[in-house]
Amino acid sequence: MGTEPDTLVAGATGFIGRWLAAELLARGRTVAAAVRGGPARGGELRAWLRDHGADDRALTVVTTDVTRPGLALSPDDGDLLGSVRDVFNAAAVYRFGMGRDEARRANVDGALHVARWAGSLPRLRRLVHVSGYRVGAAGAPRPAREWDALYRRHGAYEASKREGDAAVRDLAARERIPLTVVNPSGVIGHSVTGEAGQYIGLAELVERLWRGRLPALAGSRRTFVPVVTVDHLARFMAAVPEHDEGPDRAHWVLDAATPELPELIGLLARHLGVRAPRAVVPVGLVRRLPRALTGLDPETLAFLSEDRYDTASADALARAAGLAHPPVGDALRAWADRLVEDGFGRAPRFAAA
Ligand SMILES: NC(=O)c1ccc[n+]([C@@H]2O[C@H](COP(=O)([O-])OP(=O)(O)OC[C@H]3O[C@@H](n4cnc5c(N)ncnc54)[C@H](OP(=O)(O)O)[C@@H]3O)[C@@H](O)[C@H]2O)c1
Repeated sequence: MGTEPDTLVAGATGFIGRWLAAELLARGRTVAAAVRGGPARGGELRAWLRDHGADDRALTVVTTDVTRPGLALSPDDGDLLGSVRDVFNAAAVYRFGMGRDEARRANVDGALHVARWAGSLPRLRRLVHVSGYRVGAAGAPRPAREWDALYRRHGAYEASKREGDAAVRDLAARERIPLTVVNPSGVIGHSVTGEAGQYIGLAELVERLWRGRLPALAGSRRTFVPVVTVDHLARFMAAVPEHDEGPDRAHWVLDAATPELPELIGLLARHLGVRAPRAVVPVGLVRRLPRALTGLDPETLAFLSEDRYDTASADALARAAGLAHPPVGDALRAWADRLVEDGFGRAPRFAAA
């Protein structure tokens, strides 16, 4: 392409990564999309970006595998990326029911490989690493022996994200890599079109509601499962390197105006014209029931919490960047419509808006 990339997005074919790439291109950045799986995936990404109004002439596609040291970049691509100032890591394996080794390869080793590679860049301004709102709230790194218990209790996805978060922060502090960790809550579709690209977690609950298979909700009346629209998250992430200074920052990016879960499900039930569940069953009880009865993956139960999150730093950055969350009720309704239209992810992955 002949453009010198100033930004690299790892995980650019993913849900968050592709909206982020679109936003960065719209801001006039020259973007290297780090993609695994060869040129065909790069072609799919380009087509999706064009369908979404992005000018892909400032896009370069490089082939990577974050599970390998140096990201398995070819020597030519390595040279080309010497101009990169901002590195965004949205590459991970986001799935429940994984084994520990599989989860660790991308979410711990992969996160470290991206951070090390970013630290080796001569012009690095900032590394922006995506963790998650529950991950980031978990606090300081634990002694190694406690990880076993954490993997058993929370499952491989959540535990590996926590381990990756701790490892990246530790490495960044030791090697003086300017780091911002972005901790999004559950990401829902675009605030206007509802287009999603990720169908696990809350989306599965909406599917069960839609199919009349949600007789009861797990949690309490105060269970809070906050959401953020993918377009707000992309705008926020793209603004981070322009606003954050200093070695180590973290932001919880979620819409604090998200209704509590029973109210959220009620809102969507009214909108979709289906019956809302009447009963709310405590998580402790659901945990003891067979999965065949509840239909719930045990790894999702940790998300059914009454905790609240400190969004002060994200709110300040958003204000400084002139950003505000789109109205959450409208966004939830648009998302639910699009989930139904897309058969809850059974339509092609890169479907146009
Ligand atoms: N979605 C949410 O609601 C949410 C909420 C909080 C935090 N997060 C975090 O946000 C990040 C991105 O999530 P997402 O929803 O965008 O996930 P996603 O749609 O599954 O995207 C993950 C991306 O990572 C890439 N990837 C996986 N393994 C790789 C490897 N070995 N080498 C290079 N690339 C690899 C995938 O490539 P392929 O396309 O080739 O598979 C894909 O581009 C994750 O860290 C996730 O934990 C997500």
